Amino acid sequence: MKQATVQFHDKLPGNADLRAEVLRALGAQPRRLSPKFFYDRHGSELFDTICRVPEYYITRTETAILQANAAALARLAGRRTALIELGSGASQKVRLILDMLRPHAYVGIDISKDYLLGATRRLAAAYPWLKVYAVCADFCQPLSLTCCPPDLKRVAFFPGSSIGNFEPQHAVLFMRQLKSVLGRNGALVIGVDLKKEPRHLNAAYNDAQGVTAEFNLNILRRMQRELGAKMDIRGFRHEAFYNEIHGRIEMHLVSLRAQQIHIDNETFHFGKDERLHTENSYKYTIEEFQALARIAGYEPHTVWTDEKHLFSVHYLQVAALGEAGPIPKDHGGDCSGITTENS
Ligand code: AVI
Repeated sequence: MKQATVQFHDKLPGNADLRAEVLRALGAQPRRLSPKFFYDRHGSELFDTICRVPEYYITRTETAILQANAAALARLAGRRTALIELGSGASQKVRLILDMLRPHAYVGIDISKDYLLGATRRLAAAYPWLKVYAVCADFCQPLSLTCCPPDLKRVAFFPGSSIGNFEPQHAVLFMRQLKSVLGRNGALVIGVDLKKEPRHLNAAYNDAQGVTAEFNLNILRRMQRELGAKMDIRGFRHEAFYNEIHGRIEMHLVSLRAQQIHIDNETFHFGKDERLHTENSYKYTIEEFQALARIAGYEPHTVWTDEKHLFSVHYLQVAALGEAGPIPKDHGGDCSGITTENS
């Protein structure tokens, strides 16, 4: 039997990025690290487990929406497409739409190299008719997909409400940047978590099995494994709560006592209750997100949601006239969510 092949493109700068960012974040006040650093192989596996815990409604709700609307989505996307998945992880959700969409090519883009290779190889084996490309890259940085056949309509797939991990102004920048990859005829299929009762949100990020806590603490474990950091991980606890003013879940690592983290020749002091802010996960109403998409230069075409109105999947077309307005508030170069508090 012919072995499934994946064309692999490595565009990631190794762990120099992690070292520089960690040193910068630990030396700053407030201390803030990009959530992209959750996703080494172990972090990606933990995230997969989160997707299956009962409290984390996001994955199963989005899955049901995609299953129910795959045919409609395929009609909108049309024929001769290249499906580009951002943060492809286990490449599982895309399977829900592949049979209907029948794209000519699939490009999985992820920051976690081993994980990406394993997932895209399994995908290529399961869909022998599909041309599969794997691009190891930080999709927050400008992308050029030279591997992708130029004659195909480009449809980006960004599920899971990962857009919520960007500050809103960075979400706009990111989507604008993506437009230049998609081209005039392109489209974006994007999953967005909806605003809802805080009780529900708080439970989703504080699961009873403690998987989200492990996922959060994995950032410290990466510092130990990859940067040789010396610290007592048991001296930190996971904290996640819904900030109603900003409409976001915040995740932090909170120091249980006065302690230090040593990396290279540097020592970082944490007082009791001092924190490292590791993630924001913004929640939107459908109207809020559509307004953001318009500012980024997309025309909202269709939105699908579930009966309980927990989650939404938007089909956005690249707008003919380009950007519609200014980016809300200030913005920086990296769109991954590294900003100051209250931004
Ligand atoms: C990947 N991202 C959309 C997840 C979220 O819900 O913000 C990451 C996550 N963090 C804690 N649990 C899941």
